[in-house]
Amino acid sequence: MGIITGGDIDLMKESGRIVRLALEEMKSFIEPGVSTKEIETVGRKVIEAEGAAPSFLGYNGYPAAVCVSINCEVVHGIPSRKRRVMEGDLVSIDVGAFKGGFHGDAADTVVVGLADPRAMLLVKTVYEARDRGIEAARPGNTLGDIGSVIQDHVEARGFSVVRALVGHGIGRKLHEPPQVPNFGRTGRGMKLAEGLTLAIEPMINIGGYRVRTLQDNWTVVTVDGSLSAHAEHSIVVCGSEPLILTA
Ligand code: MF3
Ligand code: CO
Repeated sequence: MGIITGGDIDLMKESGRIVRLALEEMKSFIEPGVSTKEIETVGRKVIEAEGAAPSFLGYNGYPAAVCVSINCEVVHGIPSRKRRVMEGDLVSIDVGAFKGGFHGDAADTVVVGLADPRAMLLVKTVYEARDRGIEAARPGNTLGDIGSVIQDHVEARGFSVVRALVGHGIGRKLHEPPQVPNFGRTGRGMKLAEGLTLAIEPMINIGGYRVRTLQDNWTVVTVDGSLSAHAEHSIVVCGSEPLILTA
């Protein structure tokens, strides 16, 4: 379980800072015609220049430093020289950095140029849902409180929450207990305590919530082919307000 105190929080802030820097560099690099491999290279260089290691590279055999997932791809898209982003695409970039013994993990979804209004609303909604989930991450609240506020917001817009993949504890390991579902019921599940470090990462679809994994054994896509969006922050549960490490 990721429970941290004192100086370890500063180490996690440093990993989080690097993750944010990598995300911002990748986002400003994205334009029609760039390949997902080129996007990954931008992120990887930032991580290395900051004296960190990419958390994802080699994790369960994952072959890259960044996941780049487009449109109906939900998460874990493998960067490729042959895959180029186009005007109107929804591009989710997910990155982790390891430094000083601790991991940071965050993801953003960007729209390349303009997409149709429903797609733009999907992207707006995933950030709102993530941020509402973070607001609910307070001592005395439960994991179910986080999941239910996320689910309620997403479903109120007519979108769906992916069930098969969840958020997680984070710290000395990329994935630690507890699992952090993006759905659930108020008051259910583990009680949150001060110092608990979580990666909160809703994945939401325009259509149904069902997903499947492609033949590459990594890329997760929506079963119905509908658009998907993903947003993630690493946070610490605090007495006052949740501390966002990857802001
Ligand atoms: N942010 C994702 C997660 O927390 C990405 C990890 S997938 C990896 O699960 F295998 F590439 F590391
Ligand atoms: Co994560």
